Amino acid sequence: MSIPLPIRIRTSLLLIAGLLCLAPALQGQLTDATDSIDSAWWKHAVIYEIYPRSFQDSNGDGIGDLNGITHRLDYLQHVGVDAIWIAPMYPSPQVDFGYDISNYTAVDPQYGTLADFDRLLAAAKTHHIRIVLDMVLNHTSDKHPWFVDSASSRTNPHADWYIWNDGKPDPTNGKARNAHRGPKGWVVPPNNWSSIFQGSTWEWVESRQQFYYHFFYKQQPDLNWRNPAVEKAMFDSMRFWLDRGVAGFRLDAIDTLFEDSELRDESLLGHNDASGFPATGYERTSNLPEVHDVLRRMRTMIDSYPRAAWPNDRVLIGETYTANTAELLHWYGTPTHPELQLPMDTLVGFHQEGDSFTTAPVGALNLVYFRKYLTEMQTELAGNRPLLVFDNHDNPRSWDRYTTPAQSPAEKLAIAKLIATVLLASRSDALMYYGQELGMTTETPKRKQDVRDPIGITGWPAEKGRDGERTPMQWTAAPLAGFTTNRDPWLPIPPNHNTINVASETAKPDSLLRWYRQLIALRRSNPALRDGTTTFLDNSNPSVLSYARIAPAGSKTVLISMNMTAESQTVHLDLASTGIHGTHLYALLFDAPDSAATMDATSFTLPPFTSLIAEVR
Ligand code: GLC
Ligand code: CA
Repeated sequence: MSIPLPIRIRTSLLLIAGLLCLAPALQGQLTDATDSIDSAWWKHAVIYEIYPRSFQDSNGDGIGDLNGITHRLDYLQHVGVDAIWIAPMYPSPQVDFGYDISNYTAVDPQYGTLADFDRLLAAAKTHHIRIVLDMVLNHTSDKHPWFVDSASSRTNPHADWYIWNDGKPDPTNGKARNAHRGPKGWVVPPNNWSSIFQGSTWEWVESRQQFYYHFFYKQQPDLNWRNPAVEKAMFDSMRFWLDRGVAGFRLDAIDTLFEDSELRDESLLGHNDASGFPATGYERTSNLPEVHDVLRRMRTMIDSYPRAAWPNDRVLIGETYTANTAELLHWYGTPTHPELQLPMDTLVGFHQEGDSFTTAPVGALNLVYFRKYLTEMQTELAGNRPLLVFDNHDNPRSWDRYTTPAQSPAEKLAIAKLIATVLLASRSDALMYYGQELGMTTETPKRKQDVRDPIGITGWPAEKGRDGERTPMQWTAAPLAGFTTNRDPWLPIPPNHNTINVASETAKPDSLLRWYRQLIALRRSNPALRDGTTTFLDNSNPSVLSYARIAPAGSKTVLISMNMTAESQTVHLDLASTGIHGTHLYALLFDAPDSAATMDATSFTLPPFTSLIAEVR
């Protein structure tokens, strides 16, 4: 079964949650011949997600905006990001904070104007930063003119643009929940499908005397992707932005485009969702094979853009929560029929096992998971470029997922550096989320009346929504954190912005922000970290994760070693047996100020939770 969505991670907290040793002989398979210094920008990218409401307010209304992002480009360049992905900034009723789009080719006045967008794009280019937009293809807002038209009658030009259904006869004659009186008597929804945002996926519309289908909120009706006019309209919307110069798209909820054409019931999961509706699986509503045909055509479309001009290759990134690595591989397509360049690998950063997955329980720094999925990412993706991610606008921040309240501030900081190291020292692209580089925390609302995310309102208290990971960016220690001048920002400024903020962390030598900057700079300048293959080492060690990045000829091998426990660990490595030459380690980055910068490669000690990146000589 595939598990499509982030929200599932949270609701499945109710469900709760083999080592593959890599022989040196396999090493050759990891080499991607096209992965050279001059190859496509997206093969070596650090992509930074900006939630526009929460990044920087420039006009004092308490909501972040595009001019705010423009104003912060120096910072983003300083961090070292190659591209920013901006969560939806199109006109929207903002029920799902932009993921309910009412016009795909304009900017929401809350966030600015199209002229502001063009200025941002131009300014970003001078900072060598590409812009990736969020593209929501599965659904529109119910206020989009297409849906308004579609809902008005059964015979309008958009009548077949959404998923409409008459329903089935209600055996109780109007007594059933969600029964409606249709032209042929009482009807109920055609099946048992439950929305990932709680409740039935079916909503009745009087003017058509029919139900429409919505995988998400009822204000987000699903488009009918079996209608070619829908594909054409959506590809046209994408071209509108590609023509302006965006570098590509992050494809929202891409696995939900198609649903079972026979509308067969889903399996019942055996519990109710947070709103009390019987929860169902998603076999009939996600991951249908038809989506791959759309993606192949989409890839052809974006590849038709000239590669000689900046931003060169346009990129398709997928929101792809998958159950396993084999499923992830499908999203790349094949060499002759490529699909996404960068489907997100959520297996490493949002630990999942088989069908039931969950965000790591608090404090779970699970080395076995890391080793398993990092290994599979290098060996089972057919040389495709992986994209790692630990944080986004749908999940509690990694800071809170990998640390426990009982740990000391120093331990938590070391753990956050460890996560950064996995993210940035692996052979993969890296997706970051604003504030991750500071150690921003999840600030879940404490009272229902403070909740902004609708799933947190309908689901309270079982589901408190996603506001916690969407609080304003913490720029300074000033009362409004440098985010806004408005005393009433759309979400409260977390009190810990006193210490966790860009200004203080820029000044502090051992801060998380500095660690991120150093790592990003290193992965750009060091040939092994940038282009090297990966060999996992010391695979039965239960406490320390070690791997080597083997550089193209002429450059030094780099060892990455991370102690994932609260005790000091001495590591014994037999590098020679894996074909790696050298006897000593020269630290490039070592999160242990008191340790020696040079160590014996056969035996060295790592303090609790520390990360070491060292050259082997
Ligand atoms: C994706 C987005 C999420 C949104 C949903 C519906 O999962 O990341 O924020 O609510 O799609 O568009
Ligand atoms: Ca759909």
